[in-house]
Amino acid sequence: MTTSGSNVETLLDMADLVRPNAVRVAAALKLADHLAEHPMTVEELAERTDSHPVMLGKLLRYLVDLGLFQVDDAEKYTVSELGEPLRRDFPQSVGQFLSAEGLFGRIELGLVGLLHSVRTGEPCHAAAFGREYWDEINNDPAFVPALEAEGTTRIGWDAELVVDGYDWTGVSRVMDVGGNNGTLLIELLTRHPHLRGTVLDLPNLARIAQRRIEQAGLAGRAEALAGSFFDPLPGGHDVYLLSGILADWSDERAISILRRCGEAAGPEGKVLLAEIDLVVPAAAPGAARTDLFIAATVPNPVRSVDRLRELGRSAGLRASWEGPRTPVRSLLEFSAGGDADEDVGMPREHADA
Ligand SMILES: C[S@@+](CC[C@H](N)C(=O)[O-])C[C@H]1O[C@@H](n2cnc3c(N)ncnc32)[C@H](O)[C@@H]1O
Repeated sequence: MTTSGSNVETLLDMADLVRPNAVRVAAALKLADHLAEHPMTVEELAERTDSHPVMLGKLLRYLVDLGLFQVDDAEKYTVSELGEPLRRDFPQSVGQFLSAEGLFGRIELGLVGLLHSVRTGEPCHAAAFGREYWDEINNDPAFVPALEAEGTTRIGWDAELVVDGYDWTGVSRVMDVGGNNGTLLIELLTRHPHLRGTVLDLPNLARIAQRRIEQAGLAGRAEALAGSFFDPLPGGHDVYLLSGILADWSDERAISILRRCGEAAGPEGKVLLAEIDLVVPAAAPGAARTDLFIAATVPNPVRSVDRLRELGRSAGLRASWEGPRTPVRSLLEFSAGGDADEDVGMPREHADA
């Protein structure tokens, strides 16, 4: 083959979408898990996975070509060594991670909207699937199993800073806005027994958080509410906590979220920002790919503390305390109704946001 011929082959191979989708569908249907039990025909596997037998047969034939499965003379399929890591019980399983109905898999599939992102600078997910990522996985029942399976039950990303780095003694009620499945609120209430709290998140996660709060024996001190942080938030809390939230949103929408928290907090309340700021070193292997991926899926992952102060100021909030920092987290308290003139550097384009 000529060099240009092999380049054409290489490019076509690079752009192929059938292979990644086939692997991710195999992961979603747990084909490797079923076939690990015993060899099966297409019909049996279709029955097990509630799939269309003809389409599943075509998928399996291709997955055999790829080397993930094998088929014997009796037309029964088995998992090959290459396909083994798709099993959920494999020691370093990638089955849930790659699943087309998994939380991370769904983010990756949104990259079919990359053209929209490159044209507009907006995240790709809504262009691909008609609504934003968090909105989709929180309103579609198909993602409840993934939210249950992949949801973390231990605080991470240096969230210890929220629990230990803030003076909670004078606080009686905290709302964890975008509090996910309740892990951080449960930890906060466990470590600070005088605290009461509320998780506010979109419907699927709010339901999971409520159940986990009850399982933790905290039903008397906490509850979970379904709601959006773009709508007016319930009052009655001294602190409105935003942990790892703003990095998912553009400046304009981050300001709206801060404004909603400030309104709910009122003149006496606080908005506590525990933002995650992960910087991918430019020289790290795969950095260009990661950079493109993050930029297309979440618009503004990294903001300096000064920039966060500016966003707060644009939302009518005054930075009233700055806490300790780790390489991953910063802690910044805002007071509602403060003197906006005390902060400097508000970018003009956000003055009216
Ligand atoms: C990156 S996670 C952060 C979760 C958690 N606060 C933490 O520190 O790990 C973002 C959270 O915001 C929630 N979220 C997204 N859009 C929302 C909205 N409009 N209203 C309320 N919560 C929302 C998501 O469901 C998700 O739980």
